[in-house]
Amino acid sequence: MRLKTTRRRFLQHLGMLTGGMLTGAAAARGQSAGHRMSAAAQSAEPRLDTSALARFVDPLPIPARMKASGRRPNPENGVEAIAYYRVAMRQFAAKVHRDMPPTTFWGYEGSCPGPILEARSGEPILVEWANELPHTHLLPIDHTLHGAEADKPEVRTVVHLHGGRTGPESDGYPENWFAPGKSATCFYPNRQEAAGLFYHDHAMGITRLNAVAGLMGMYLVRDEFEDSLKLPKGEYEIPLILFDRSFRPDGQVYYPVSGKPGAPWVSEYYGSAILVNGRIFPYLEVEARKYRFRLLNSSNASFYRLSFSGQDSATSQGCDFFQIGSDQGLLEAPAEIETLILGPGERADLIVDFSAWAGKELFLRTDVAVFMQFRVTGARGRDDAPLPAKLRPIPRLAEKSAVTTRELTLADYQNRLGQSRVMLLNGAHWDMPVTEKPVLNSTEIWSFINLTDDSHPIHLHLVRFQILDRRPFDLTVYQLTKKIVYTGPPVPLTANELGWKDIVRADPLTVTRIIIKFEGFTGRYVWHCHMLEHEDNEMMRPYEVVPA
Ligand code: C2O
Ligand code: CU
Repeated sequence: MRLKTTRRRFLQHLGMLTGGMLTGAAAARGQSAGHRMSAAAQSAEPRLDTSALARFVDPLPIPARMKASGRRPNPENGVEAIAYYRVAMRQFAAKVHRDMPPTTFWGYEGSCPGPILEARSGEPILVEWANELPHTHLLPIDHTLHGAEADKPEVRTVVHLHGGRTGPESDGYPENWFAPGKSATCFYPNRQEAAGLFYHDHAMGITRLNAVAGLMGMYLVRDEFEDSLKLPKGEYEIPLILFDRSFRPDGQVYYPVSGKPGAPWVSEYYGSAILVNGRIFPYLEVEARKYRFRLLNSSNASFYRLSFSGQDSATSQGCDFFQIGSDQGLLEAPAEIETLILGPGERADLIVDFSAWAGKELFLRTDVAVFMQFRVTGARGRDDAPLPAKLRPIPRLAEKSAVTTRELTLADYQNRLGQSRVMLLNGAHWDMPVTEKPVLNSTEIWSFINLTDDSHPIHLHLVRFQILDRRPFDLTVYQLTKKIVYTGPPVPLTANELGWKDIVRADPLTVTRIIIKFEGFTGRYVWHCHMLEHEDNEMMRPYEVVPA
């Protein structure tokens, strides 16, 4: 194994974010999101040409709101009754496009994305996650990966509430999986500010496959402060859950295999089409007024650079929009932006004002393709509440409040053919002893030294954090001396990256620093890359919050 030093994928990665650097073939086919083709994805197996599908013939589906199934005693005090939900994971078939045969998925409550769970800050809920899936997996398992050995049941699930400040026993530790016929009840205290969270599967060694099968959904925490802002709500607040998939000609999900006998893992999954709320090329009729869109990128590996475009063409002027919140809730003030970079697992809370667009169409697009249409009608309801100039104050965590700085490398080890074999966080495998043990209520700086030529979206469970900076460094010097020599000043953060986050994009050959206060609970959690193929192949580590 050798450490990857080629710049090839680095350049392609930038292409993914900036457009124009894709291979001609991929661009010509209108591939959705700067999806570079991996060697494995170019295999001979026939796939459905999603770019040839009729555009904007299906209305955007809106995920249902989950209803409580009853009330149960609060496990924290045993007295007061709190809302109890039972959410079942089931196999089902659904059409992703008018002209395609139904696709088999796994979903919470038999839908993909699953229903929206809505909670109020400070009001705990209980959710029983029930595995009612079949005993065979839809997708090829790699039994050589950690935790996915052949002696384990093929179908295993465990649910993590991403972004939730949850006790360790309810956090969905990857090894706490359960098989079909079993369930696990999780307690979510919701002692946190209003934010768009999401729940998804996290089973050891097969998270990427359970995600592609469809196990994901949105979880919204509300609070009084958010209510006081009078943001668009009800039918004017719309979740937009994005993920990419490729399909076989029979309409079933296509997931590539490596071609290595017994070891089908591939290093990233990129689909040919971006689905919004489970539909390819959907349209949404909107009134000429402000809307609030709750975006989630629940793709396995794709980063999107999103914009609202006035035409169904590559380069057209669109409308600016405001980002009002990121992963962990509201920004300090609305940030007016033209484009939004959203990596795997990241969320964005957007306000788009369609009032100048009555009678026209707008399109949601990446740098390479349009994937959703908005048809703007006249205004019906009154929309006189202006967007507040200030949102929630965000006190910056002072660097000097940090008691520890941890320097943690991100590395990709390849075989002689230049294929990724394993990716490690700070050189450690999953089952090595825990090395990150922050003390409860202490503040730390984590400094991610990205030695690879990919961006990695790094996520910590339990906590919210702030991004300090990103700064390019000299890889060769680092490899020879283990010393960081910066090659330029820190890259300034954009206004929409100054809010509370739980995922940070660690860019290639860059040191990315975050500052974190470890609040809420002691116990065992994980931190990992949210590119799910990486996470499943060792790019995940336990960490432990220890008592003071
Ligand atoms: Cu969204 Cu550990 O994950
Ligand atoms: Cu990664």
